[in-house]
Amino acid sequence: MKNELNNLQKAVILAPYSTFQIGGPADYFFRATNKDELKNAYIWGKNQKLPIFIVGGGSNVIFSDKGFRGLVIRNEANHIHLQNTVIEAESGALWSQLIQLAIQNNLSGIERLIGLPGTIGAAVRGNAGCNGVETKDLLISATLLDEVTFNEKEVESEYFNFSYRESKIKRDPELVLSVKLGLKPHKGTPDDLRATMKEVLLDRNGKQPTGKNAGSFFKNPSLTFSAGRAIDEAGLKGFTVGDAQISEKHANFFMNLGKATQQDLIQLARHAAKKVQEKTGIQLEQEVNILDEFGHVMKI
Ligand code: EPU
Repeated sequence: MKNELNNLQKAVILAPYSTFQIGGPADYFFRATNKDELKNAYIWGKNQKLPIFIVGGGSNVIFSDKGFRGLVIRNEANHIHLQNTVIEAESGALWSQLIQLAIQNNLSGIERLIGLPGTIGAAVRGNAGCNGVETKDLLISATLLDEVTFNEKEVESEYFNFSYRESKIKRDPELVLSVKLGLKPHKGTPDDLRATMKEVLLDRNGKQPTGKNAGSFFKNPSLTFSAGRAIDEAGLKGFTVGDAQISEKHANFFMNLGKATQQDLIQLARHAAKKVQEKTGIQLEQEVNILDEFGHVMKI
């Protein structure tokens, strides 16, 4: 094992790597542009006994205002390859890339995920989804790095024990190196798939704000109880703490209006959860990962 990692950067500000645009400096920062670089950087960090955080699209994380006392790996390993109806993708690939490849080859199954931010690796971890499709519906298998031996292992979808926005590797972290997703030959033309995508995007743009946010802040407590509706009904649209605001468009989207800090967002989220609890008796659970400077996920 080498003691050095080529192209390792130091004291890199994390704000640009999160859609909230919040976060101080990471002690160490490495861009992995392929699976081997991702693996080597991860093993290097483990051997140095550093806290490690893998960031993809940064669309589900709030870094600490103090930054990160360890190694942040930006996962830019995004090679994708189609074999019949199966897409093999490195874990830093984006949904938009996969959807484009699927449509070019008239394959269906992922077109309704258009607009879903983040990488496929992060999507496996959090069983990301929208419009009635979840990552678990598509995943055939994934190649992970064994945490003990540092060998690659291919595991089937069942391994992840998926549920709504949850998986085994969210509770017990393991590095996803690549995935295999199963699609279906589409009976119509690629134009039908494009039309579905357009419809989905129009719907999303009508309901969800753009700007500096991280999608839904809280999980929906059940299929019939929407966190967004509950925060809205508590009268909190537009409520602000510092530069953090509950979106006027969708109450489960929290916005950074400019210079919001992690603390502003935590205060905002606590207030929203408290008001919903008082009104409905239901305790909201966060979907967004709020990291302390050592990489622990903090509960609000
Ligand atoms: N609603 C309100 N007020 C609001 C927001 C929503 O009354 O401010 C109502 C809507 O009118 C609707 C219901 O609440 O009747 C549900 O809202 P919406 O259709 O916007 O869906 P959602 O449950 O808020 C979920 C996912 C989104 C995903 C959409 C579309 C969660 C937590 N969120 O949102 O996922 O894009 O469905 O499939 O499961 C994400 O996870 O980051 C995300 C954006």
